[in-house]
Amino acid sequence: MSKTSSGKGKENRPEFPGWPIWDEEDIESVSQVIRSGQWWAGAPAAHAGENVWALQEEFAAFQESRHCIAVANGTAAIEVSLTALGAGLGDEVIVPDYTFVASASAVIAANAVPIFCDIDPRTFVMDVSRLETLISDRTRAIVAVHLGGNPVDMEHLCSVAEKHGLAVIEDCSHAQGSRFKGKRVGNWGDAGTFSFQASKILTAGEGGAIVCNDDELAARFYGLSDCGRHIGEYFYEHYGYGGNYRMSEFNAAVLRAQLRRFPEQHRLRNANARYLTGKLNAIGGIRVMEPTPGTEELGYYVYPFLFDPAEFSGITGEEFRRRLTAAGIPTVDCYPPLHRLSCFRERNLRKGIDYSRANWGGPLSEDSRFPVVVDVYSRSIELPHEVLLAQKRQLEYIASVIRNI
Ligand SMILES: Cc1ncc(COP(=O)(O)O)c(C=O)c1O
Repeated sequence: MSKTSSGKGKENRPEFPGWPIWDEEDIESVSQVIRSGQWWAGAPAAHAGENVWALQEEFAAFQESRHCIAVANGTAAIEVSLTALGAGLGDEVIVPDYTFVASASAVIAANAVPIFCDIDPRTFVMDVSRLETLISDRTRAIVAVHLGGNPVDMEHLCSVAEKHGLAVIEDCSHAQGSRFKGKRVGNWGDAGTFSFQASKILTAGEGGAIVCNDDELAARFYGLSDCGRHIGEYFYEHYGYGGNYRMSEFNAAVLRAQLRRFPEQHRLRNANARYLTGKLNAIGGIRVMEPTPGTEELGYYVYPFLFDPAEFSGITGEEFRRRLTAAGIPTVDCYPPLHRLSCFRERNLRKGIDYSRANWGGPLSEDSRFPVVVDVYSRSIELPHEVLLAQKRQLEYIASVIRNI
């Protein structure tokens, strides 16, 4: 069951799947939580509800990670990871310029300074060949964002991080299931963070998780997300600073039902993406996002492609999207580059923090300093992931509409 885009009344126009997709299993799992009267997870040693604990095991197994800590959302997951890994006051953290604001605002929340890295023109993720030009004596960590599910070249990134002694957080909000050179993303760095917000490919409306493979780090992530508690210790002893970023039983129950469905959806998105890419790349002036070499599976939160305005009568991205919408094909807004956002044009985000060495703000936020992302953003079109759950004839319809533009 799901909502679908409204194509009714327009002949020969296929309807695309909507999102989220749910059935009686999701409804029953939430009902069971209500009936149980256990609406939160409780302490690790004494469980109240069981869904959060079970989800942590199930998601860790799916991601092939040793630990999973469920949290309230993906932003909190990055904040907690940065703090646990020692990024804080006076530190710099490298993030891609092309991502949702949370990848950088979590750095601000940790009292550190984000440093923006331009992207690769083919894969649209962080250009790892630029990393060393951005590293300073204050750099503490790198947040690698697997944008649209496309893995950052983690092999290269981790070698740079190791050389300079930097922590690595993988923002896998778009990349549940992505696999790069034999490893699921989230396992390359110190921590992998996930969002289960409503638009994501695995969702419960809101929610997040951190995966890692280090026991001591996992305990730190847990303490920071649950009031400074230690697993197995007295509930009202708080050993260090920790917020309340716990996930509720309701979200975990829905996520468990969604996760059971996920592998089949993931397989279909990958197969359909390959098919659609074959069709779209055959159209002059269209170039689909290239999976980073070494990618074996891709989460596909979105399916981006670039169009060359010169081959489409000089039309703008806005006009291109308008024509797709008019043909009943759903699209989504691309993220504006971070350096363009109002919050990063000024340098007064948090009281008492020295942003004077940031590579953004005022004249440093000029587009000319981030040429690749500016070009990609100006002519990128993104289809939402549910389009990749459609049938082949619907994908052929997309290709034919684009060819006619
Ligand atoms: C790349 C990226 N990072 C982080 C987040 C933050 O996740 P959440 O909305 O669950 O806080 C999002 C979600 O929208 C995202 O797209």
